[in-house]
Amino acid sequence: MADKPTKGLADVVAASTALSDIDGKAGRLFYRGYDIHDLAGRTTFEETAHLLQHGKLPNREQLAAYGDELVRGRSLGNLVQANVAEIAEKQEPMEALRTLVSLASADDPDKDSNAADANLRKAARLTAQQPLLVARYHAARTGTEIPEPDPELSVAANFLLQITGRNPSPREVEIFDECLVLHADHTMNASTFAARVCAATLSDMHSAVVAAIGTLKGPLHGGANEQVMRTLESIDPAGVAQTVRDKLAAHEKIMGFGHRVYKVEDPRATHLRAMSRELGEASGDDTYYRMSKEMEEVVLAEKGLFPNVDFFAATVYHYLGIPTDLFTAVFSVSRMAGWTAHVIEQHADNRLIRPDSEYIGERDQKWTQIDER
Ligand code: ACO
Repeated sequence: MADKPTKGLADVVAASTALSDIDGKAGRLFYRGYDIHDLAGRTTFEETAHLLQHGKLPNREQLAAYGDELVRGRSLGNLVQANVAEIAEKQEPMEALRTLVSLASADDPDKDSNAADANLRKAARLTAQQPLLVARYHAARTGTEIPEPDPELSVAANFLLQITGRNPSPREVEIFDECLVLHADHTMNASTFAARVCAATLSDMHSAVVAAIGTLKGPLHGGANEQVMRTLESIDPAGVAQTVRDKLAAHEKIMGFGHRVYKVEDPRATHLRAMSRELGEASGDDTYYRMSKEMEEVVLAEKGLFPNVDFFAATVYHYLGIPTDLFTAVFSVSRMAGWTAHVIEQHADNRLIRPDSEYIGERDQKWTQIDER
């Protein structure tokens, strides 16, 4: 007979990884041993993706080679091109990405191989394609043309240009690049776990990423950032504290707060709060930032809960001009670096992930003919 399960697998160690590490009591996060506070604002998303997928921060030569690989990967296959318009008409952003990544696998030259070199090439292509998929989807649904990705521009700069249709300022690019770094990996979060379970059957990287996208979509995970913005938009700025108190009294969850692992401030939120403040003030209307600060104070005082990565990311993306319903898609642009690195790690030392369950149903039932039921 199986043991009692830990609901939600809280505190269960489900895999070994050399990719990232969290100290939930101290509020610290590390990517391959580097403190997130050292990486954020000093290391680009491209360097971070290389760190996760290849195991090392790149030197200039390695970064140039990886950058070239990303540039070559920035193209979409025929199946995606042929179907994106209809998908954009019928599917919400995260549904569409789930479908588009699946379609993209058909045109991937390494689709039939889980070998280490093939996985590295697929990881770079998926990382290069994800921002392009979001931009192509957005262009299709808005009936606009997007500029071709500029090989001279970073992932962050190309994405902001394609989504907003205007040249971002250098500071906006820096800030968005830092957002991508902050979201790139986070130990055994739900979407990464889903990706690893899929990969552990020796299924391919695209399948694992599709599982991850479907998992990130939920409002208890990546979907929370969009919900944060919807909450801010729905609250009267003059009545923030009372509205939040009322929601808590009604046992409503306030999106963007709480975390399974962090018991103190999420270190990513520290950076995102500062960015939200800077962008809000620069925009000339920092109402949403100020409302967020008020929400933060009330939720901490009433429930002892801290904001997670999704809370201030919402206003940062809003100030950068990203449409609210694309916020979770933006998360996936960054997390693609981590998901793919986890698939590489899983395939390199694999064992099928197959936990047990506790049976709580009826026993010793007597079978009867259909007419007697
Ligand atoms: N607002 C109000 N109360 C909350 C919140 C919240 N955001 N988060 C947790 N609580 C309360 C719960 O109601 C529960 O209270 P109770 O014991 O009185 O019933 C207690 O805190 C424990 O909450 P659980 O949901 O059991 O904690 P768990 O570790 O399972 O969940 C989670 C963590 C899902 C992040 C949760 O805090 C939550 O739902 N937050 C809102 C959604 C969100 O922001 N998700 C993004 C997380 S970060 C990421 O995935 C990228």
